[in-house]
Amino acid sequence: MHQDAKDILYTEEQLKARVAELGRQISADYKGESVVLVGVLKGAIVFFTDLARSIDENVDVSFDFISCSSYGSGTTSTGVVRILKDLDRSVEGKHVLVVEDIVDTGTTLHYLLENLHARGAKSVRLAALLNKPERRKMDVEVDYVGFVIPDYFVIGYGLDYAEKYRHLPYIGILKEEMYQD
Ligand code: XMP
Ligand code: MG
Repeated sequence: MHQDAKDILYTEEQLKARVAELGRQISADYKGESVVLVGVLKGAIVFFTDLARSIDENVDVSFDFISCSSYGSGTTSTGVVRILKDLDRSVEGKHVLVVEDIVDTGTTLHYLLENLHARGAKSVRLAALLNKPERRKMDVEVDYVGFVIPDYFVIGYGLDYAEKYRHLPYIGILKEEMYQD
């Protein structure tokens, strides 16, 4: 385990098993359909690549990416959402499945889901690896959730603190002394 982590919340094996289950569910729900997977950079990319590969060949899948910011480099939300990098292609008339690492206050996803609806997507759903409902400020419906977690600051499997730890293959809990709120 990384020295800055105080515990492992989900091991590589647990993540793999849960992501495969989500993939089976998504494969069944979108069978015979086309769907654009919209990955929210950068935190979602590890989950995104594993989830995408667990969706079977009976679904037509394409990839696009968006980058939003509601956080600085710290652990608290500023509440303001900015699009830093937009999608490459139009989602008008398409089924969209947003893939996100974690829903925390809900600020980012609330904004993003509304924004994609406004672009005329045929449907917009959300897959989030982690959900921290205790911290919710804005209403967000999570259609596919990996794990519901308490209010821990977590790292690894794409999740960072100040851009570190994204490469760790497990989800760990960051030691409190690593950040001051
Ligand atoms: P909101 O508050 O808009 O936040 O739902 C979503 C974004 O905040 C980041 N976030 C975290 N990142 N560990 C992280 O590494 C955490 O525990 C955590 N909680 C929120 C994340 O980027 C997410 O997309
Ligand atoms: Mg994120």
